[in-house]
Amino acid sequence: MRAAPPADPVTCLAEGVDRLFEPLEIRGRRLRNRIVMPPMVANRGIVTPAGVAWYKAHAAGGVGLVIVEATSVDGFRYLFSVEDLSRLAKAIHAGGALAAIQLFPGVREQQVRPADLDRARLEGLIEGCASAAERCAEAGFDGIEVHGAHGFLLNQFFSLAANGRTDAYGGTLAGRMLLAVRISSAVRAALPDDGLLLYRHTPVGEGYSLEESLELGAALADAGVDVLDLSPSSFRVPGDGAAPFRSLGVPVIAVNELDRVERAVEVLREGRADLVAIGRGLIADPRWPVRTRAGKDARRCLHCDSCHGDLNAGRPVHCVLWRS
Ligand SMILES: Cc1cc2nc3c(=O)[nH]c(=O)nc-3n(C[C@H](O)[C@H](O)[C@H](O)COP(=O)(O)O)c2cc1C
Repeated sequence: MRAAPPADPVTCLAEGVDRLFEPLEIRGRRLRNRIVMPPMVANRGIVTPAGVAWYKAHAAGGVGLVIVEATSVDGFRYLFSVEDLSRLAKAIHAGGALAAIQLFPGVREQQVRPADLDRARLEGLIEGCASAAERCAEAGFDGIEVHGAHGFLLNQFFSLAANGRTDAYGGTLAGRMLLAVRISSAVRAALPDDGLLLYRHTPVGEGYSLEESLELGAALADAGVDVLDLSPSSFRVPGDGAAPFRSLGVPVIAVNELDRVERAVEVLREGRADLVAIGRGLIADPRWPVRTRAGKDARRCLHCDSCHGDLNAGRPVHCVLWRS
């Protein structure tokens, strides 16, 4: 008997590309496909005309879910009315995507550390997250993402290397998870029943292990988190840092250089994540999803990180491919 011919790599990729465009329903809300715009500070403001236009263009480019950039919880108190936020949510919906927003506990520019927060400030932070979530839901957002990743405050609380507290919010694993769990529970309670709750976490970091991160993921799922967004989540192969979290029974997002279509396809095909987030690739080309679906090449991100340079310099984020 003759062996079957080897699978045609082009056909395999095309079949895989279809997977990117399979819808997904979470809490009765339908994502039209598996492609997520991860939170990325664009330094345009989020409710300014330039900010709204930025997100509108990205939604119209075909992603299933837009997660608006890290936004300080304090900002909600003073800067954003329900009307402002509603213009942003509507602009995203107009492009056919679901709209979530990443809440940043604290003020991004101020390096608050776990040791700086007394119990009253912690309670204020939890309450601030809940009321910001309530305001976003009222404005029409489909979901909230809590920023617990990248060495920022909640990630520091989780890390033995950064959290030297001796009260209930430090020490044991349960103590180091407590703030994340309380914030997630408070946000869950503030959202409507069909409101999506995402949590972004860095799966491996200084001062904690992957096993501890998995325990955090389980505790967050118990607290009502619907989606775990793992960042960064590609180490040896695309999405391998997200894969272990799939055992927790909630959808998982993988990220990191998945703008190379074959890497995104591999993540879904190998079952390492349910959703793929494309960051810099969408800055390079907001129309990446529609172009990919049409079998066309998207403008190819160089991974040069000049967008990161803009971010750090406080300039509106651009891409060298379309800056001039
Ligand atoms: C300009 C810029 C701004 C970013 N801002 C955020 C942010 O607000 N919150 C966050 O969790 N990650 C942020 N990130 C990280 C991205 O969400 C993403 O995880 C990272 O770029 C890796 O994905 P990629 O390889 O597809 O670009 C930012 C990245 C860039 C390039």
